Amino acid sequence: MPIHRKPILAANWKMNKGPSETEDFLKSFLGKLQGSGFPCEIVIAPPFVSLAKAAEILGGPKVPVQLAAQNGSQKDAGAFTGEVSMLMLKEFYLHYVILGHSERRAIYGETDEVINAKMKKAREANLKPIFCIGETLAEREAGRLEEVLGRQITKGLEGLSEKDMVDTVVAYEPVWAIGTGVTATTAQAQEAHAFVRGEIAKLYGAAVANKVRIQYGGSVKPDNAAELMACPDIDGALVGGAALDPTSFFELIKAGCSVIEE
Ligand code: PGA
Repeated sequence: MPIHRKPILAANWKMNKGPSETEDFLKSFLGKLQGSGFPCEIVIAPPFVSLAKAAEILGGPKVPVQLAAQNGSQKDAGAFTGEVSMLMLKEFYLHYVILGHSERRAIYGETDEVINAKMKKAREANLKPIFCIGETLAEREAGRLEEVLGRQITKGLEGLSEKDMVDTVVAYEPVWAIGTGVTATTAQAQEAHAFVRGEIAKLYGAAVANKVRIQYGGSVKPDNAAELMACPDIDGALVGGAALDPTSFFELIKAGCSVIEE
C-alpha cells in the first residue's frame, strides 16, 4: 500500500475486557511497542466502561496508540437509556468512533439512516468515524456486492463534507468473514476496496478518494495481515479476535507494517 495514506490498524475488542483486563493488555502491549516505531497508526477500541482506564494509560504525550469508542449516539442528550453521546466520548482522550459495524446493523437494527445520523454527530464532536460497510454471504452470492456497498456508502455518507470524508476511515468488512476464520482472498478484498474507493471518488472526486484510508476487516491475523496490506487499496485492518491478545495484535501489526513502502 502506498505510504501517502498512513496505514491504520485498529483493535475492535467488542464486548470484551473491562477496566482491569484493559490495563493488563495495554501495559503488556505498550511494553512490546517500545522503540518499535511502526509507520502506521495504531488504535484500540475498548468497551465504554474501559475508556477511562485506557485514556489514563494512553493519554501521555508520546504513547503511539490512539483510542476509539465502538459506538456513539446520534442524539446529544436526554431520555435515551443506555446511550452515550459523542460529546461525552470526546471527554476521553479519544480520536475515533467505530460506526455502522455489521453487529450493530444486524443485531441492533441500525439502518443506513441511523448510521448516517451518527456519522454527522461524530463529525460535529470532531471525532473521526471508522465507518464500517460490508455485504453478507447471501448478498455476495446473489451478485449484489456492488449494490449493497454502493447503498451503504451513499446513504451512510450523505451530507458529509470533503473534510469529513478525508477524516473518515472506511472499514470494508465482509460479514461472512467476521469472526468466522474465513478471510476474503486478497483478490476479493482488493477488488472490493477498489470499488469502494471508486464510489467515494464518484461522490467526492478522485483527489479526496485517494486520501481516504480503507481498512479491511474480517478474520485478519498475524499470518494474513501482510498479504492483505500489500494490496494497493488496503490501508490497514480492523481486527477483532486477533486483537484480544497483546502478542497476537503486536505480531499482526509487525507483519502488516513489513509491507509498507517507505
Ligand atoms: P474478527 O472481527 O477479526 O474477529 O473477524 C473483525 C471485526 O468485526 O471488526
